[in-house]
Amino acid sequence: MTAVLADRAVGLTTSRAPFIEQARDQGRLYIEQPYDLYSEENHEAWRRLFAAQEPLWQKYANDHFLKGISNLALPHDRVPELVEVNKFLQPLTGFQAKPVSGYIPAFLFFDCLRNREFPTTITIRDLNRLDYLPEPDIFHDIAGHVPMHTDRAFADTLVRFGDCAHTAAEIVAGIRDEEEKTRRVISIFKALARFFWFTVEFGLMRGPQGGLKAYGSGLLSSHGEISHAIESPEVQRFPLQLEWIINQYFEIDHYQPLLFVADSFDHLFSLVDELERWMRQGKLNNVAPGEPKMSEADVRSFLHASEGK
Ligand SMILES: [Fe+2]
Repeated sequence: MTAVLADRAVGLTTSRAPFIEQARDQGRLYIEQPYDLYSEENHEAWRRLFAAQEPLWQKYANDHFLKGISNLALPHDRVPELVEVNKFLQPLTGFQAKPVSGYIPAFLFFDCLRNREFPTTITIRDLNRLDYLPEPDIFHDIAGHVPMHTDRAFADTLVRFGDCAHTAAEIVAGIRDEEEKTRRVISIFKALARFFWFTVEFGLMRGPQGGLKAYGSGLLSSHGEISHAIESPEVQRFPLQLEWIINQYFEIDHYQPLLFVADSFDHLFSLVDELERWMRQGKLNNVAPGEPKMSEADVRSFLHASEGK
């Protein structure tokens, strides 16, 4: 009891949540959301983030996202409970937010998408650092990503994206030379991660009136960047092109200087199909070097999958 009270005082704050540290020490990736552990400060952080972001969504977010926000009935005044969110989400597209203890190795992450599960961070950023956070938190995952998962075409795109990871594992399974196999995994992963970054995380799309709207969660969950992405003359915006984005490196610690504009969610879906086709044709085997880096755990997750483990 004393331990629970002490934990509650600490809360589930990004990078200092004993509950999360313990889960990770025990090697548990998939966890529950211990809702009672959120501190008053955690709820206050959600309240402030949500209140600050709402007017920006009205102005800059894609219509599908706005519909998603209202369909999910996300609370304004407290951290949402994932079971509640899922009650609204699952009947719409079959997707569910699945609580995780932190970073999930790449293949497992994509595999979750394929199963219509979205690995969801349950910690929330510090009340004193609301503006900037390089790592995901529950505001980014639930208010930034999950509203888009209520949209059928977008949800199907994520599932197809998950399929691509399986295709990658299947392709490298036939390679005997371990070094070549790893090299190939890294190149294909870079292509997939870059695609994900420039669409699901930072994508822009033309709105019905011709203006630009955000559908990428990194923009939708960022107070400063959403308007910067759409209004700033310093940002380069180009039509989404597969051959470009799979070869384009990115950095995560500052506003994005280069963004890509999709025509529609059908367009996005067709590009994932093309991405998979290119993978099968060997066109992702030698993409441009540079970010993102692939951790050993990421590589291992693909190699294990290719060995049927
Ligand atoms: Fe994200």
